[in-house]
Amino acid sequence: MSVIEMRQIKREYRMEVKKKKSSSKEDNAVVVRALRGVDFSAQTGEFISVMGPSGSGKSTLMNIIGCLDKPSGGTYVLDGIETSTSDSDTFAFIRNIKIGFVFQSFNLLARTTALENVELPLFYRQKKKGEKRKLFGSEAAVRKEKAMTALKDVGLEQRMDHFPSQLSGGQQQRVAIARAMVNDPAFILADEPTGNLDTGMTLEIMGLFQQLNDMGKTIIMVTHEPELAAYTKRIITLRDGQLVSDKQVTDRRSAVTDLAQWKKDHALLAEEE
Ligand SMILES: Nc1ncnc2c1ncn2[C@@H]1O[C@H](COP(=O)(O)OP(=O)(O)OP(=O)(O)O)[C@@H](O)[C@H]1O
Ligand SMILES: [Mg+2]
Repeated sequence: MSVIEMRQIKREYRMEVKKKKSSSKEDNAVVVRALRGVDFSAQTGEFISVMGPSGSGKSTLMNIIGCLDKPSGGTYVLDGIETSTSDSDTFAFIRNIKIGFVFQSFNLLARTTALENVELPLFYRQKKKGEKRKLFGSEAAVRKEKAMTALKDVGLEQRMDHFPSQLSGGQQQRVAIARAMVNDPAFILADEPTGNLDTGMTLEIMGLFQQLNDMGKTIIMVTHEPELAAYTKRIITLRDGQLVSDKQVTDRRSAVTDLAQWKKDHALLAEEE
């Protein structure tokens, strides 16, 4: 099933350029064409990397995919819903319900336990016009049950009552991933999710993404690193606001295998020292 259908997506930023001594009153606008007509679709169960040099339009594209921003042109159908013509309530609803966000900096609430952090999106879940009330049985018990299941899926059932400061960076990112999954979104959108993690934790998180993807979760991840893209199933590359390459990964690496090898090498190194 198609979760993302983008056709000729364009995003232009108009920048007003101030000229102090301009005599004419016409506005001096410079237009930055950040996306110049991108066609992109994704199916349920895919694991996709978005790559490209700095300034190529990755964040701009991710903001549009994540319904944080609307394109200047083109159409975007998310899980069957046309986003460009939707009103702002529906747009926010799509963002809250259909997409799970994972950021480089985890973005967990510090004074809140792992379990409560994961429960949060269930509070924000608003009722959409016309939707039946019973879909939103957000009673405390239901919320807790859902959050516990998500934490189990990321292997943190033993850490539910820990605060973020009592967790390692990798564990904090696991909590963030559980939070992203708790509403059972159409896909998870991860922007450089391992940017703040060391090699071991990075491999752990990539292993977790692979495991979740094996369970059927759809994941889209921005990364600068080809080594990380090698764990995904498909790589799209942007350049100057255009999609210049779209390839299936043929020899996909296993993060679990690489982590085991890394731990071995690490232990050997420690012995030598
Ligand atoms: N709010 C904005 N106003 C004006 N121009 C912008 C804005 N945001 C991005 N741009 C421009 O759009 C282009 C694409 O930017 P974008 O942030 O999408 O790049 P990126 O691929 O994410 O880069 P990086 O790898 O450095 O994060 C750049 O030329 C950038 O300067
Ligand atoms: Mg960026």
